[in-house]
Amino acid sequence: MLGLALLAGVSVMVACGGGEEATEETPAVEEAAPVATEAEAWVAPEESKATANPFTADAASIEKGKGIFGQYCVSCHGADMKAEVPAGLAVKAANLIEKTPAQADGELHWKLLNGRGAMLKISTYGISDEDGWHLINYIRSMAPKA
Ligand code: HEC
Repeated sequence: MLGLALLAGVSVMVACGGGEEATEETPAVEEAAPVATEAEAWVAPEESKATANPFTADAASIEKGKGIFGQYCVSCHGADMKAEVPAGLAVKAANLIEKTPAQADGELHWKLLNGRGAMLKISTYGISDEDGWHLINYIRSMAPKA
């Protein structure tokens, strides 16, 4: 009896990200060094705060950002932006609802342009600098600036 119970306990499924080789232009995500998660906050350079968002957060801009987010970002950050979905790496994607309100648009844009670890710079996906601002307007619509 006891032996059976023990055996049953052994079958552990390890959920792990395969299928990273989705798009042809995506560089090997596996090569990105696993980042040290929340412990090491990601801070954009001070001067990035000064870069203003050239796009008004009107319905068109937000809608555009939403479309791009759904295509390229939702897999890691989740539709609610709370990163319930593991990135398939040693890190979870950042909770954008918590992390973005305290930051300036320019800081977020800098992060999108530069990336860190599993968070690839948006140019990797062929997303333009300009669309980065629309993404930020969409993120703001979900997580308003503090
Ligand atoms: C492969 C998974 C993955 C994808 C796809 C992804 N991200 Fe991320 N993102 C991350 C991870 C992991 C972090 C945390 C990076 C760190 O702190 O080193 C992050 C961080 C961020 C941050 C900064 C949060 C902070 O700490 O200030 C923003 C903003 C962001 N992502 C937006 C986006 C947007 C917009 C897209 C779509 C273009 C996107 N991400 C696509 C995994 C991903």
